[in-house]
Amino acid sequence: MLDGTVFLITDRPDNSDILRGELSLVADCKVIRFDAVLDITQKPIGVVSDVTLDRREAASAMRRAFAELKTADVPVICLLRNMGEISLRDAKNLGATCCLSALTTPAMIARTVMAQVIQDRAERPTRSIERGVARATEVLTRLFDGVRSNDQISLTHIDASLDPIISAVREGGLTRWLDRVWTHDDATYQHCLLVAGVAAKFSLHLGFSTDDRNHFVRAALLHDLGKARIPLSILNKPGRLDEGETTIMRTHPVIGYEKLKAAGCDLLTLGAVRHHHEMLDGTGYPDGLSGNSIGDTVRLMTICDIYSALTEKRAYKPAMPTSVAMAILSDMTGRLEGGLVQSFGEAMATAS
Ligand SMILES: [Fe+2]
Ligand SMILES: [Fe+2]
Repeated sequence: MLDGTVFLITDRPDNSDILRGELSLVADCKVIRFDAVLDITQKPIGVVSDVTLDRREAASAMRRAFAELKTADVPVICLLRNMGEISLRDAKNLGATCCLSALTTPAMIARTVMAQVIQDRAERPTRSIERGVARATEVLTRLFDGVRSNDQISLTHIDASLDPIISAVREGGLTRWLDRVWTHDDATYQHCLLVAGVAAKFSLHLGFSTDDRNHFVRAALLHDLGKARIPLSILNKPGRLDEGETTIMRTHPVIGYEKLKAAGCDLLTLGAVRHHHEMLDGTGYPDGLSGNSIGDTVRLMTICDIYSALTEKRAYKPAMPTSVAMAILSDMTGRLEGGLVQSFGEAMATAS
């Protein structure tokens, strides 16, 4: 028997005893009238709809229910009285992941539910990673395009990408996130997505509150926004940057800061964007801050940023082994906070 609850939504609850009995062999089963308010905070693992969708009142009630179920993102098995092409299309459009004839035996329906839930669980981590990368890329594309064309940028859509990133790392694991992000062909987006994933993992490891975690991942996603104004010939240069190129490259924290400030961005994110290249010994840029003038969020972000830069993949360079990247971070004593580097190493060591 599986953990969790299967919802049986029905317009004939008096006739649902046998089906409920069979479904109860798969998982805990809760029978819900089709016109009752669906409470998905109970997190079903699967749903069976045994409702005559041809009836208008049932169809509109189920439209509402299916909209809720989209958020739950679980298999929805729809039992149809009529298996005609139009009924099948309507059910799929509503959000059914599988349609069976209402004449199917309860035992077979239960077996189908079991198979669908097991398949869903196997595919969920990959789906979660794809969703997280897609949402984050969408946000980055919009923001980078805005900065590139010197438009006023809007921060409206950023927060909707944070939960998908954090869920992806939590459900799919950082290793899967890194493997997926390394295939990104744009080096700067790849880097921002790496830092966001690594920051999500680090904040989960540190047990941040939801708000703090969201703030940290948000700052990670945005930290290099100013690179939108750095020429690609510098950003993508395979070798070392010369002095002039380095000077141009080092303008990116302030560019990002100014654009985000003008957009009304919060102070914590602004601080991380401006100061993620500052070092505790004062050798960083752009403001040469040192010691206590560098806040905790910046210290954490700098570690995530350097680690991600070291381990990113480019056409001309394979990813550096994580153990080598960690050794480099550990050698930066005096520039990075040793205790945080150690804690970061522990977080990355449980990267799967
Ligand atoms: Fe940077
Ligand atoms: Fe960076």
